[in-house]
Amino acid sequence: WQKIAPRKATDPPVVFHWLPIIGSAIWYGNDPIGFFQTCQERYGDVFTCILLGRKVTVTLGVKGSNFVLGGKSTAFNAEGAYTHLTTPVFGKDVVYDCPNEVFMQQKKFIKFGLTTKNFRAYVRMIEDEVDEFMRKDPRFVTYQQNDINDWGSFDAIAAMAEITILTASRTLQGKEVREGLNKSFSQLYSDLDGGFTPLNFLFANLPLESYRKRDRAQKKMSDFYVDIIKRRRANPDAETHYDMIESLKEQTYRGGAALRDHEIAHLMIALLMAGQHTSTATLAWTVLHLASRPDVAAALYQEQVERFGNADGSFRAMEYEDLRHLPVLDSVIRETLRVHPPIHNIMRQVREDVPVPASLAAPSSKSGNGVYVVPKDTYVLASPIISQLDPRIWVNAHTWEPSRWSDSAGVAAQALRTYTDEAGEKIDYGFGAVSKGTESPYQPFGAGRHRCIGEQFAYLQIGTIVAALVRRVELRLPTKVPEHNYHTLILMPKDPKSVHYRRRRFD
Ligand code: HEM
Repeated sequence: WQKIAPRKATDPPVVFHWLPIIGSAIWYGNDPIGFFQTCQERYGDVFTCILLGRKVTVTLGVKGSNFVLGGKSTAFNAEGAYTHLTTPVFGKDVVYDCPNEVFMQQKKFIKFGLTTKNFRAYVRMIEDEVDEFMRKDPRFVTYQQNDINDWGSFDAIAAMAEITILTASRTLQGKEVREGLNKSFSQLYSDLDGGFTPLNFLFANLPLESYRKRDRAQKKMSDFYVDIIKRRRANPDAETHYDMIESLKEQTYRGGAALRDHEIAHLMIALLMAGQHTSTATLAWTVLHLASRPDVAAALYQEQVERFGNADGSFRAMEYEDLRHLPVLDSVIRETLRVHPPIHNIMRQVREDVPVPASLAAPSSKSGNGVYVVPKDTYVLASPIISQLDPRIWVNAHTWEPSRWSDSAGVAAQALRTYTDEAGEKIDYGFGAVSKGTESPYQPFGAGRHRCIGEQFAYLQIGTIVAALVRRVELRLPTKVPEHNYHTLILMPKDPKSVHYRRRRFD
């Protein structure tokens, strides 16, 4: 808990609140987007709010994102914002529990494991897992009965969470983890995951059973991975592996020191956690939207038939290279990530006073030196979702419309508008402007130094799963697409989220 410093002339405007420590936490916690949009109307793109004793300066719009994500790492620090949540779950000496310069090397090691050779092997593995899941899981009973008339249903989050962990463990995590899912690993995962909640974000440690379970599971899971590494080192030629453990085993830091076994174990846990909820959320939103838009699902199915259909009505297997030639599938995922970015807010701890560029926001009266200053020992927050849903940038910004991404549909030119911002600067979001830069209006994977390295894997995993599902079943939604649930760390759909399905054809 930090003291809230008195307002200085250079402080950004503070959002009005009645309760001193709680500040705006209740409004923010229930509806961060509505809260930010209201504050934006009242105060502009830069304002400070009090969230449970933390002083957080929110900087909105593409320039606001650029300010936070493109800022110097000595000024805006990710460890200070996240380590109390992540270190008890991932473990020591990795990610935010080591100097940032060390984590940047660890990120590079992970990149080395995400090779085209491995990705080629993964597509088949993922399809196999989806196939087996649909043939065995009780939720897909009408599919299993080979009945094309009966509709069954599944819960979008629960079913997609299972498919995500089955496919991630079979591919990135490796054979031993996949086998462990049928045994003790599942319970460990579930206990550890119980430490990844908004409560854990607010309080690193509380005398609660969920915290004790988290700590026990972290230790056991770390030992589980270390044991795999030791066994593999003892039998180096026993088998070919395409997973991340195999790649990390070979990496050395600058200066020659090898990654230690517990660091490999903790990086593997970090990857498991980084991918699990983000991919689950994206898949859940994707199937919900496809179920509510049979026209898009039909276009997706048609794309599969055209590229993979055999004369007898069956499909050939997908290859990694195919994914680059499936524009409808690509646009469906891209659009889902625009409307429902799983990580909608990105925070940093402020380690030195940072002036806000006047082009982003400036005090109306020329007090101080005419600029706002974000004070040291507070926090900054960027919210890419605000730009991703900004009607000044996107046509029908709140509508899920994958065709906006495809040139062939002829609407790409309208997808992003040209507009003149408050400072009178003309901003042209031509199609090419949707870059990976820190000033892009589309940042579901973040930007800058802390940008996601799992994007390609996520597209491969989500794309293969969606294609495998659409080939096998038709989807329908008996309700409206649910609203956002902001009470989870990752943006998930609220209830009801039951998706109806029926088998496409007899085998
Ligand atoms: C960072 C989103 C999947 C590993 C990030 C960030 C975002 C993000 C927004 C930036 C966080 C920040 O700046 O504070 C997503 C989404 C995913 C996804 C939307 C899926 C749809 C994955 C997967 C992996 C992964 C599958 C691992 C294989 C990472 C790592 C970082 C990261 C290592 C770097 C954190 C840092 O440098 O501080 N991701 N991610 N992500 N992600 Fe992902």
